[in-house]
Amino acid sequence: MTERFPLDPASVAVAPCASLPDAMGAAGRRLFVEVGFGKDVRLLRAAAADPEGLFLGVEISRKKFDSFCRKVARAGLANVRAFGGDVRRVLEEMLPAGSVSGFTILFPDPWPKRRQKKNRWIQPATAARLHRALVPGGSVEIATDDGDYREQIQRCFLDAGLLLESERGELAESERTVFTARFERRGVPFTVQRWRRAVPA
Ligand SMILES: C[S@@+](CC[C@H](N)C(=O)[O-])C[C@H]1O[C@@H](n2cnc3c(N)ncnc32)[C@H](O)[C@@H]1O
Repeated sequence: MTERFPLDPASVAVAPCASLPDAMGAAGRRLFVEVGFGKDVRLLRAAAADPEGLFLGVEISRKKFDSFCRKVARAGLANVRAFGGDVRRVLEEMLPAGSVSGFTILFPDPWPKRRQKKNRWIQPATAARLHRALVPGGSVEIATDDGDYREQIQRCFLDAGLLLESERGELAESERTVFTARFERRGVPFTVQRWRRAVPA
């Protein structure tokens, strides 16, 4: 039997375009972007708690993206959309300057081996793009369990002009994800940093 959803899963997906905020009708609304949500649904909880905000998930894995669109449709959350593809393309082509109130990036793939580091998507150019896309005062929340990636993120973000606001080693119950649960079960420590774009004086 076909399951009936309050929304059509196809309507959750947003196509490549020159401005994702325009495509989502974000004028006058706060836009929050989560990169690499994987199998997690924290974005759905955040969207349900803030119906005035708009929420965009970006995920490169087609399978996880399709599954996420079905979950959003099942939950009937009209303020959540998803883009299936590489966040680098989104940052380069689809997010205008000063359009995003907050990014959430929880456990970007660490590519821990020396020869793999070039595959990490947070690099100086993408950090500059994150900074550019944020509204003044906007934030980036980022978590990693990899010490070397943490240092790389810190260097890139500082060079991009972001300000480190806080650092902690745990998340509140409502903020937990599939990966935080996995790390907690295995006793693997991780760091969650909050960065902010400065507000001009
Ligand atoms: C380690 S998982 C973390 C999943 C989730 N954030 C959590 O905490 O449970 C990283 C996710 O980022 C996605 N990802 C990796 N590179 C990406 C990219 N360049 N653009 C968008 N998503 C990406 C992967 O497909 C994967 O689902």
